[in-house]
Amino acid sequence: MTFKILLLNGPNLNLLGTREPEVYGSASLDDVVEEVRDLAGENDAEIRDVQTNSEGDLIDALHDARDWADGVVFNPGGYTHTSVALRDAISAIELPVVEAHLSNVAAREPFRHTSMIAPVCLGVVAGFGTDSYLVALDALLRHLEAEQ
Ligand code: DQA
Repeated sequence: MTFKILLLNGPNLNLLGTREPEVYGSASLDDVVEEVRDLAGENDAEIRDVQTNSEGDLIDALHDARDWADGVVFNPGGYTHTSVALRDAISAIELPVVEAHLSNVAAREPFRHTSMIAPVCLGVVAGFGTDSYLVALDALLRHLEAEQ
């Protein structure tokens, strides 16, 4: 079975590589997507990737995923800590979603310690830079495999 995965990135992640590299690393978003795609390929999975700075477009991408995806790896950026609407969208689509963060949000400012979406996600991976996405994808694929 070839699993189809949405790799979804939220606001400011288009600036990866140049944005606070001491926090987020030097890899660009294209580099991250390529690494995720390579790991997916090794596991007979397919990736569609979407990055948008708009909350509404993130919600639309999640709704759209109902029609084609088996699961989602999602870095909601700053919306992680604020968005009831994204949480509601994840609940509504009933797809497994893994929340991924480059930085260890628990070790940063207190406002980053709360995730609005974690309670409706399959799990959370944070603090491993680009590897957070790879660990998140691996965990998601293992979950999907076990569910078959
Ligand atoms: C982030 C962490 C968020 O707190 C922040 O707003 C981001 C990036 C991360 O990947 O570490 O934009 O999601």
